[in-house]
Amino acid sequence: MDKAALAHEYPTPFYVYDADMIRTRVAELADAFKGQTVSLHYAIKANDNPAVTGIAANAGIGACLVSAGEMKRAMAGGMKPELMLMNGAAKSDADIIFALENNIGQLNIESIPELTVVADIAKSLGKVATICLRVNPEVTATTHSNIATGRRSDKFGILVEDLDEAKRIIASRPELKWVGLSAHIGSQIHDVEELRLGYQALVDIFKAQDNPGLDRLDLGGGFGVSYKGDAYARPKDFAPVIAEMTKDLQAKGVRIQLEPGRYVAAEAGTLVTKVLFVKKSGGYNFVMVDAGMNDLIRPALYQAYHPIKLARVSSAKDMPCVIAGPVCESSDVFARDRMLPDDIQRGDVLEIGYAGAYGFAMSSQYNARNRLAEVMVQGNTHKLIRKAFSAEDFDKATLV
Ligand SMILES: Cc1ncc(COP(=O)(O)O)c(C=O)c1O
Repeated sequence: MDKAALAHEYPTPFYVYDADMIRTRVAELADAFKGQTVSLHYAIKANDNPAVTGIAANAGIGACLVSAGEMKRAMAGGMKPELMLMNGAAKSDADIIFALENNIGQLNIESIPELTVVADIAKSLGKVATICLRVNPEVTATTHSNIATGRRSDKFGILVEDLDEAKRIIASRPELKWVGLSAHIGSQIHDVEELRLGYQALVDIFKAQDNPGLDRLDLGGGFGVSYKGDAYARPKDFAPVIAEMTKDLQAKGVRIQLEPGRYVAAEAGTLVTKVLFVKKSGGYNFVMVDAGMNDLIRPALYQAYHPIKLARVSSAKDMPCVIAGPVCESSDVFARDRMLPDDIQRGDVLEIGYAGAYGFAMSSQYNARNRLAEVMVQGNTHKLIRKAFSAEDFDKATLV
């Protein structure tokens, strides 16, 4: 469906997702791992709209979560709690209680003190918590520093040198059922060799435990997508690496878990925005649009590249543009030196692509702006899957 045509149906800016693309990406992952003992857990932090989690649920995959709120959105999409696992370096008591009360499949524990807190809460609920220890394997991923998570200096996971202490605590707490290890070295990783390094570190640590009670190894997510259209590792490239590295473990009944987020949702999403003004100033062509960094923060936060195109066909020659939004921050710029036709004008629609992951999910209401409406297209149909949340809605929510 022509996404720009939707700009006649819905006020801009808005997010639109392509259901078939999400299904295609999930199927691509599932196909690549056919024949292996691998379970997929969609990292819903990438896009937690229940319509999206619903597509993942229908494909039979589970969820990777970081909060009770995410668990509610996964459940709203019909995902099964037993197929869910929860990470999080600072889970609140409420997160842990909600997860245990709703029989989550697995909690990934990220620190020594968290073990005692989870054990105490499980005891008070009369439950046994099924846990993995998230290890910090001290592997530095080549990605933006803000999304690398496996360095010694990062807040995530338990260092290998602290595993003995973790095991001592587990041994003394019958409320904890330790079933495996997990790790996640970062996001937007596009090199198979780099994934291999991270996996090898974790596999080695897993084998060193020599513990037959451990029945799962969670290798995390992090699979990159091709924002610029260049060649990246795809599931068919890294699935054989995982097979080769873990075949002996899989043969012994160890299940491999993966937590893909971006790979599932990024490509399916577009942020549709309208040009408000073309401002020629100081030698720059500022294309001022109605979406801002509060709607899509990735360019400001990670200097991320998103493809941006004019929705209509133009035969005008291209000019370098700065595409900027209305938020009162100089960092509210989606792209600099981006070529767009020089007849671009007020009212034109722009499509900001690959915005389905970490787009709406990271958005805010800064400058008392709306959180945007989200639309799902399927074939030739479209449906509003979440209405915009306006500043007025927010005021109502706080003042009653
Ligand atoms: C523990 C964990 N698992 C999975 C993911 C998903 O990563 P990606 O969207 O890159 O696949 C993240 C992302 O930050 C994460 O922190």
